[in-house]
Amino acid sequence: MKILTAYFSAGGYTRSLAKRVAEAAGADLFEIKPVEPYSEADIRWTNPLARCNKEKLGKKEVPIEGRVENFDDYDLILIGFPIWYFTAPNIIESFVKSYDFTGKKVGLFATSGGSDITKAPGTLQPLMKGEIAGAKLFSADANRPEICAWLDTLK
Ligand SMILES: Cc1cc2nc3c(=O)[nH]c(=O)nc-3n(C[C@H](O)[C@H](O)[C@H](O)COP(=O)(O)O)c2cc1C
Repeated sequence: MKILTAYFSAGGYTRSLAKRVAEAAGADLFEIKPVEPYSEADIRWTNPLARCNKEKLGKKEVPIEGRVENFDDYDLILIGFPIWYFTAPNIIESFVKSYDFTGKKVGLFATSGGSDITKAPGTLQPLMKGEIAGAKLFSADANRPEICAWLDTLK
Protein backbone atom coordinates (compact mmCIF):
# COMPACT_ATOMS: atom_id res chain seq x y z
CA MET A 1 0.00 0.00 0.00
CA LYS A 2 1.47 3.36 -1.06
CA ILE A 3 0.78 6.16 1.42
CA LEU A 4 1.10 9.93 1.23
CA THR A 5 1.10 12.28 4.21
CA ALA A 6 0.20 15.81 3.11
CA TYR A 7 0.06 18.51 5.74
CA PHE A 8 -0.35 22.22 6.32
CA SER A 9 1.10 23.91 9.38
CA ALA A 10 1.27 27.61 10.16
CA GLY A 11 3.00 27.46 13.53
CA GLY A 12 4.94 24.18 13.41
CA TYR A 13 2.85 21.95 15.72
CA THR A 14 1.16 20.03 12.93
CA ARG A 15 4.47 19.83 11.03
CA SER A 16 6.18 17.97 13.85
CA LEU A 17 3.19 15.64 14.19
CA ALA A 18 2.98 15.07 10.42
CA LYS A 19 6.62 14.03 10.27
CA ARG A 20 5.98 11.37 12.92
CA VAL A 21 2.79 10.25 11.18
CA ALA A 22 4.68 9.85 7.89
CA GLU A 23 7.45 7.92 9.59
CA ALA A 24 5.04 5.60 11.40
CA ALA A 25 3.07 5.01 8.19
CA GLY A 26 6.09 4.58 5.93
CA ALA A 27 4.58 7.38 3.86
CA ASP A 28 5.96 10.05 1.55
CA LEU A 29 5.65 13.59 2.95
CA PHE A 30 4.28 16.65 1.15
CA GLU A 31 3.97 20.07 2.76
CA ILE A 32 0.91 22.01 1.64
CA LYS A 33 2.34 25.51 1.48
CA PRO A 34 0.48 28.65 0.44
CA VAL A 35 2.07 30.49 -2.50
CA GLU A 36 1.95 33.51 -0.22
CA PRO A 37 3.27 32.39 3.20
CA TYR A 38 1.29 33.33 6.31
CA SER A 39 2.97 35.99 8.41
CA GLU A 40 2.23 36.24 12.12
CA ALA A 41 -0.14 39.13 11.43
CA ASP A 42 -1.92 37.04 8.75
CA ILE A 43 -3.01 34.44 11.31
CA ARG A 44 -3.85 36.77 14.18
CA TRP A 45 -7.51 35.77 14.22
CA THR A 46 -8.30 38.22 17.02
CA ASN A 47 -7.91 40.97 14.40
CA PRO A 48 -11.10 41.01 12.29
CA LEU A 49 -9.11 42.33 9.30
CA ALA A 50 -6.41 39.64 9.45
CA ARG A 51 -5.90 37.58 6.29
CA CYS A 52 -7.14 34.37 7.96
CA ASN A 53 -10.49 35.98 8.78
CA LYS A 54 -10.85 37.45 5.29
CA GLU A 55 -10.14 34.04 3.74
CA LYS A 56 -12.62 32.33 6.02
CA LEU A 57 -15.44 34.81 5.59
CA GLY A 58 -14.82 35.24 1.86
CA LYS A 59 -14.65 31.44 1.41
CA LYS A 60 -11.45 32.16 -0.51
CA GLU A 61 -9.30 29.63 -2.31
CA VAL A 62 -5.70 29.60 -1.09
CA PRO A 63 -3.26 28.95 -3.96
CA ILE A 64 -0.77 26.19 -3.12
CA GLU A 65 2.89 26.04 -4.06
CA GLY A 66 3.85 23.03 -6.17
CA ARG A 67 2.02 19.75 -6.62
CA VAL A 68 2.25 16.18 -5.37
CA GLU A 69 4.10 14.11 -7.94
CA ASN A 70 2.39 10.92 -9.08
CA PHE A 71 -0.68 11.48 -6.89
CA ASP A 72 -2.45 8.67 -8.75
CA ASP A 73 -0.01 6.10 -7.34
CA TYR A 74 -1.16 6.55 -3.73
CA ASP A 75 -3.77 4.30 -2.10
CA LEU A 76 -4.09 6.13 1.21
CA ILE A 77 -3.79 9.89 1.69
CA LEU A 78 -3.25 11.19 5.22
CA ILE A 79 -4.07 14.90 5.44
CA GLY A 80 -2.89 16.88 8.46
CA PHE A 81 -3.81 20.41 9.50
CA PRO A 82 -4.43 22.71 12.47
CA ILE A 83 -8.11 23.16 13.29
CA TRP A 84 -9.10 26.66 12.17
CA TYR A 85 -12.58 27.93 13.03
CA PHE A 86 -13.61 24.47 14.29
CA THR A 87 -12.76 22.71 11.02
CA ALA A 88 -10.08 22.36 8.30
CA PRO A 89 -8.46 25.60 7.02
CA ASN A 90 -9.40 26.90 3.56
CA ILE A 91 -6.04 25.79 2.17
CA ILE A 92 -7.00 22.17 2.88
CA GLU A 93 -10.19 22.63 0.89
CA SER A 94 -8.07 24.04 -1.96
CA PHE A 95 -5.73 21.04 -1.72
CA VAL A 96 -8.54 18.50 -1.78
CA LYS A 97 -10.15 20.17 -4.81
CA SER A 98 -6.86 20.05 -6.75
CA TYR A 99 -6.62 16.25 -7.05
CA ASP A 100 -8.72 13.29 -8.09
CA PHE A 101 -9.27 11.13 -4.98
CA THR A 102 -11.43 8.54 -6.75
CA GLY A 103 -10.80 5.08 -5.27
CA LYS A 104 -8.53 6.38 -2.53
CA LYS A 105 -8.88 6.13 1.22
CA VAL A 106 -8.31 9.27 3.24
CA GLY A 107 -7.37 9.80 6.88
CA LEU A 108 -7.56 13.24 8.48
CA PHE A 109 -5.46 14.26 11.45
CA ALA A 110 -5.13 17.55 13.25
CA THR A 111 -3.80 19.54 16.15
CA SER A 112 -5.87 22.25 17.82
CA GLY A 113 -6.15 24.56 20.77
CA GLY A 114 -8.92 22.39 22.20
CA SER A 115 -11.59 21.94 19.51
CA ASP A 116 -12.14 18.44 18.18
CA ILE A 117 -11.90 17.25 14.56
CA THR A 118 -15.45 15.98 14.17
CA LYS A 119 -16.57 18.80 11.85
CA ALA A 120 -13.73 18.40 9.34
CA PRO A 121 -14.96 15.25 7.53
CA GLY A 122 -18.27 16.97 6.80
CA THR A 123 -16.42 19.96 5.36
CA LEU A 124 -14.09 17.94 3.14
CA GLN A 125 -16.08 14.85 2.07
CA PRO A 126 -18.35 16.77 -0.36
CA LEU A 127 -15.24 18.15 -2.10
CA MET A 128 -13.69 14.78 -2.90
CA LYS A 129 -14.55 11.39 -4.35
CA GLY A 130 -12.30 9.48 -1.95
CA GLU A 131 -13.56 7.81 1.21
CA ILE A 132 -12.72 9.58 4.46
CA ALA A 133 -12.10 6.49 6.57
CA GLY A 134 -11.20 8.28 9.78
CA ALA A 135 -10.33 11.56 11.46
CA LYS A 136 -8.26 11.94 14.60
CA LEU A 137 -7.16 14.85 16.75
CA PHE A 138 -3.70 14.38 18.25
CA SER A 139 -1.60 16.38 20.62
CA ALA A 140 1.43 17.72 18.77
CA ASP A 141 3.68 15.39 20.77
CA ALA A 142 1.60 12.24 20.18
CA ASN A 143 3.79 9.15 20.42
CA ARG A 144 4.34 6.42 17.87
CA PRO A 145 2.09 3.74 19.48
CA GLU A 146 -0.77 6.24 19.55
CA ILE A 147 -0.21 7.13 15.90
CA CYS A 148 0.17 3.48 14.84
CA ALA A 149 -3.06 2.53 16.64
CA TRP A 150 -4.92 5.11 14.56
CA LEU A 151 -3.22 4.07 11.31
CA ASP A 152 -4.36 0.48 11.93
CA THR A 153 -7.99 1.64 11.97
CA LEU A 154 -7.64 3.05 8.43
CA LYS A 155 -6.26 0.01 6.63
C1 LIG B 1 -6.78 31.30 12.18
C2 LIG B 1 -6.78 30.32 13.32
C3 LIG B 1 -7.97 29.75 13.75
C4 LIG B 1 -7.99 28.81 14.78
N1 LIG B 1 -9.17 28.24 15.16
C5 LIG B 1 -9.18 27.32 16.16
C6 LIG B 1 -10.39 26.68 16.58
O1 LIG B 1 -11.48 26.93 16.04
N2 LIG B 1 -10.33 25.77 17.59
C7 LIG B 1 -9.15 25.45 18.22
O2 LIG B 1 -9.15 24.62 19.13
N3 LIG B 1 -7.98 26.02 17.84
C8 LIG B 1 -7.96 26.94 16.83
N4 LIG B 1 -6.76 27.49 16.43
C9 LIG B 1 -5.50 27.03 17.09
C10 LIG B 1 -4.76 25.98 16.27
O3 LIG B 1 -5.60 24.93 15.84
C11 LIG B 1 -3.62 25.32 17.09
O4 LIG B 1 -2.81 26.32 17.67
C12 LIG B 1 -2.79 24.39 16.23
O5 LIG B 1 -2.11 23.44 17.03
C13 LIG B 1 -1.76 25.14 15.38
O6 LIG B 1 -1.05 24.23 14.55
P1 LIG B 1 0.20 24.69 13.67
O7 LIG B 1 1.29 25.12 14.63
O8 LIG B 1 0.60 23.45 12.92
O9 LIG B 1 -0.23 25.80 12.77
C14 LIG B 1 -6.76 28.44 15.41
C15 LIG B 1 -5.55 29.03 14.97
C16 LIG B 1 -5.56 29.97 13.96
C17 LIG B 1 -4.25 30.58 13.52
